[in-house]
Amino acid sequence: MKNPHVCTRCGSRAARWEGRCAGCGEWNTLVASTSRSAGASVSVTRLADVDVSGFALGPTGLGEFDRVLGGGLARGSSTLLFGEPGVGKSTLALMVLLGRCARGDRGLLVAAEESLAQVARRARRLGAVPAGLDVVALSDLAGAAEMVRARRPDVVVVDSLSAMSDANLTGTPGSVAQLRHGAERLSQAAREVASALVLVGHVTKDGDLAGPRALEHLVDTVVRIEGDRQGPLRILRAVKHRFGPTGEVGLLEMLGDGLVEMAEPVLRAGDATSGVVAGVTSDGARNLVVEVQALVVGSVGAPRRVAHQVSSQRLALLLAVLEARCGVVCSGSDVFVATAGGLPATDPGIDAALALAVASASLGVPVRRDVLALGEVGLAGELRAVPALERRVHEAARRGAATILVPTEGDVEAPEGAQLVRVGTLGEAIAALTSQNSALLVH
Ligand code: TYD
Ligand code: MG
Repeated sequence: MKNPHVCTRCGSRAARWEGRCAGCGEWNTLVASTSRSAGASVSVTRLADVDVSGFALGPTGLGEFDRVLGGGLARGSSTLLFGEPGVGKSTLALMVLLGRCARGDRGLLVAAEESLAQVARRARRLGAVPAGLDVVALSDLAGAAEMVRARRPDVVVVDSLSAMSDANLTGTPGSVAQLRHGAERLSQAAREVASALVLVGHVTKDGDLAGPRALEHLVDTVVRIEGDRQGPLRILRAVKHRFGPTGEVGLLEMLGDGLVEMAEPVLRAGDATSGVVAGVTSDGARNLVVEVQALVVGSVGAPRRVAHQVSSQRLALLLAVLEARCGVVCSGSDVFVATAGGLPATDPGIDAALALAVASASLGVPVRRDVLALGEVGLAGELRAVPALERRVHEAARRGAATILVPTEGDVEAPEGAQLVRVGTLGEAIAALTSQNSALLVH
């Protein structure tokens, strides 16, 4: 042993026995660490001396994933990536591996669900396959943990944890006992050899959070990937994050050759359409411009209300306010609303855009595409300020909004390049849209 003597008070090690510990200055505290007395075999280090360099592995090249993780993967950490079947977990996990290996890391993919040929086919679809990436088809837990210890990869992906099992443990693969045991064993192995571990986990629509909840405290980070398989949009969310903020959102699109960062909408000047009004949705740390689209047509039979990516309760409330407070009556019509691109917009800050899109569709009044509305609508038809109003206003201007309707009560200044129109009620906002010489209309 290099420093066989250890201080029983502060844990400092010394090459020779000395009467006084060089670490804490205490007398007669050094003992030979082989004596195993008073916890002497346990090494204690000054916190300030612990080496933290090289903790972060660096970016994966998939900016939206790195953003959700606050910069990228960390050595010795474990990340659970979960989502419904087919949403793109294997694709994302493989892209993270490819991205790190292209930057010189050594990667290991433990494929527990798919054959090597299937994995290779997906990898080729995603682009060049770097030499530093190894793959093994394996579903035995002990074998996988052993392999991580022996090969010490920089990054290791286990796809999926749900398919791994330990023969010594009762319970089928995917049972809570197996999942917990697997997460524990694999993250321990990764921690020992400073590998960044990504565990892929399945959830079903009904069993949604049962699996991830049971595992949450066993891993450092939990990332959920969501999205409608029919469309390209995929949303990443850090549900838990030991090394950074949670609530961070990443937006990706699943294309023919993998996941790419979603291009955020840019509002175009000059265009005008009825039934389309932009707003800004705020989801945790991120503010996003989203175009709300509405279609109002006479109904045959019972009127239908169809809301995609916006809350149907909010829509019902806004239709009632439009009728009772603003004289915009849709009760005999079918109303369809959705967001362009399928971006979810469920926070009340989107109310004004949603209500104005419906009013514009119902009245047949076109609105310029670079007009954007912010505010929550109250039952009296008043427009209320929303959280993060200033940040939403700036995001709106950055994305090309030239005219921004804001609640009178909101304390915010006009950003560069955009004009603010202050409105106290939804009725005033509609009047601003429909008045003959309004700047909000197409001329
Ligand atoms: P996958 O990553 O296998 O999903 P999961 O592991 O969550 O079950 O991918 C799901 C779907 O994505 C699959 O139907 C094929 C499609 N896909 C693309 O559209 N583009 C691609 O580049 C890849 C690799 C897959
Ligand atoms: Mg998969």
